[in-house]
Amino acid sequence: MKARIAVLAGDGIGPEVTAEAVRVLRAVAKRYNHDFTLDELPFGGVAVDEFNDGLPARTLSGCLAANGVLLGAIGGPKWGLTDPVRPETALLQLRSELGVYANLRPVAVQPSLINASPIKPEYLEGVDLLFVRELTGGIYFGKKSKQDDRAVDECAYSVKEIERITRVAGRLAKSRRSRITQVDKSNVLETSRLWRTVSERVIYEEFPGVSIEHMFVDAAAMHLIRNPKDFDVILTENLFGDILTDEAAMLAGSLGVLPSAALGDQRRGLYEPIHGSAPDIAGRGIANPCGTILSAALLLRYSLDLETEAKAIESAVTQALDGGARTADIASQGAAALSTRSMGDAVLGAL
Ligand code: IPM
Ligand code: MG
Repeated sequence: MKARIAVLAGDGIGPEVTAEAVRVLRAVAKRYNHDFTLDELPFGGVAVDEFNDGLPARTLSGCLAANGVLLGAIGGPKWGLTDPVRPETALLQLRSELGVYANLRPVAVQPSLINASPIKPEYLEGVDLLFVRELTGGIYFGKKSKQDDRAVDECAYSVKEIERITRVAGRLAKSRRSRITQVDKSNVLETSRLWRTVSERVIYEEFPGVSIEHMFVDAAAMHLIRNPKDFDVILTENLFGDILTDEAAMLAGSLGVLPSAALGDQRRGLYEPIHGSAPDIAGRGIANPCGTILSAALLLRYSLDLETEAKAIESAVTQALDGGARTADIASQGAAALSTRSMGDAVLGAL
């Protein structure tokens, strides 16, 4: 198959982890006889520095012309929180321009990493949950204003926005254990009350056999630690999804191993590890590339329909981890840790 993949390495550890994912993609192309064109494009803080624009026109058009977009990470302390042009704004703009409103963040515990988590193993065995985070609406995209003594961020959701993301959750739930937990703060927020009624209606009317229950976000935060096995699909708005997925990552042992896919109504998606740019360890070659490599697998699955190839990458990562390959974030105390490149080698070896 011929496919065009835009690669946005971004900032901090972004270039280090995407380099490994690119090697894996090239290896897959070779082994399965595909013709992948990989276009590396400037994005995020590096683009702010060079073009005073985190999402230059050339990068956006390259992404729009691609079958899938692979992103490393963006941002860092170098770009001030009050700067007029910021890497994070570029990311929100890119998600919005690509129309990728559904952010899938699977959290599965790799058996060989069970001891890397700060949570006791008996809580973790069998954890297999999928976050469906709304990605292009809510408080992230609401009107903002700031005066000297006051600041406002508006949170708005339309029925249409909630319906379409609920359908994504419904379809995915059907292919899993058919249980949706919709997380909100409907004891306080008007938008949350809308989420509740709309999501419930869509599931009842369109997804017979799929159950939906509702949970307040504070309770969900606790439940995620106390009984993570209880969850199948967690459907939630943009901000809550951002927070809860970082929390849930600790179930898997490290933010470093988790991938994500952002999808819309088209085949083209945006794929990124859920971790950030980790400026504290950037440039040292010690970051964990697994989250990005697994994101590349999701790209093959969802944007290119290459299920066999996606599975091959996923098993290669599992095999590398089972074989004891560990970067610093998941190595047990005192044990030697692999560099980013050597971890990539371990995955390539398994592949
Ligand atoms: C994420 C990140 C982003 C978000 C930031 C970098 C804007 O935290 O993808 O989870 O909040 O969506
Ligand atoms: Mg986040």
